[in-house]
Amino acid sequence: MVKFTVIGGDSSEDLAKKIAHRLKALYIKTENRVFPDGESKITIKKIPKNNIILVVQSTYPPVDTNLLHLLSVISKARKYSSKIYAIIPYMGYARQDREFLEGEVISISVIGKLLKAVGAKKVITVDIHSKIALRELKIPSENISAITELVKHFKKKKLRNPIVISPDLGGKQRASQFASLIGVEYIALKKHRNRKTGKVNILTNSADVKDRDLILIDDMISTGGSIIKSTQFLKKQKCKRVFVACTHALFVNDAARRIKKAGVTEIISTNTIPRNTSKVDVAKIISDTVL
Ligand code: R5P
Repeated sequence: MVKFTVIGGDSSEDLAKKIAHRLKALYIKTENRVFPDGESKITIKKIPKNNIILVVQSTYPPVDTNLLHLLSVISKARKYSSKIYAIIPYMGYARQDREFLEGEVISISVIGKLLKAVGAKKVITVDIHSKIALRELKIPSENISAITELVKHFKKKKLRNPIVISPDLGGKQRASQFASLIGVEYIALKKHRNRKTGKVNILTNSADVKDRDLILIDDMISTGGSIIKSTQFLKKQKCKRVFVACTHALFVNDAARRIKKAGVTEIISTNTIPRNTSKVDVAKIISDTVL
């Protein structure tokens, strides 16, 4: 039987503990002391065994701090084993997967190089923003979909004539998969984002959602702009309640409050990022992938 050690980075402690529990693995905590000048002193609190070591650390804000923590822990773990898997449930920088404007750095490819340099043998992530990002990592990697877990949660809800909506055409496949697992229809709105200001606009003219409950699904909520604009548009089309399903709830600034203010009934996210909306646990799908 393969034996695992799970090291929980400070951004993903609870999830790491859950994964360790499922794998019956040794769990090791990390400590991060921040000096007055802002530098981190990172310590792993036990000595890992020479087996497969899973370092679990999402890279949500503060992104660069959490990323350095991840790289440092992998680098330390590498002293004890050559089989280090980086479990990055929320992979930051995945939206920077191509040169949209001339001169832009493809940051996700830099992250791939760093992970490899410190000794990660494999990367496991959940609902990475794009397949291009996964390819750009250029390290053996696996992306797990949390859709089935989100669907299980929504199946328990009593919804009135529901329809699944993607806020943009890029999310059409996600909405289609989610809708077919629930057994309802879906539509994808047309969204435009200004690459310089980040501002979002919905370009769809009308949608047949009158008197229906909606499940608005996206991979992540960052500033909330996509969900807010979509909700405002759908409310004008006289829909009933709007539920939001997403894997990664970044909630930059006061996004959650503004989304609620726009008329959303409930936001459901996973625990790739620990939030009070994290009602769906991804420990099982991660553990099943590792085994
Ligand atoms: C975009 O392609 C993504 O799927 C999300 O829709 C987007 O990143 C969400 O960002 P925000 O909440 O800032 O609109």
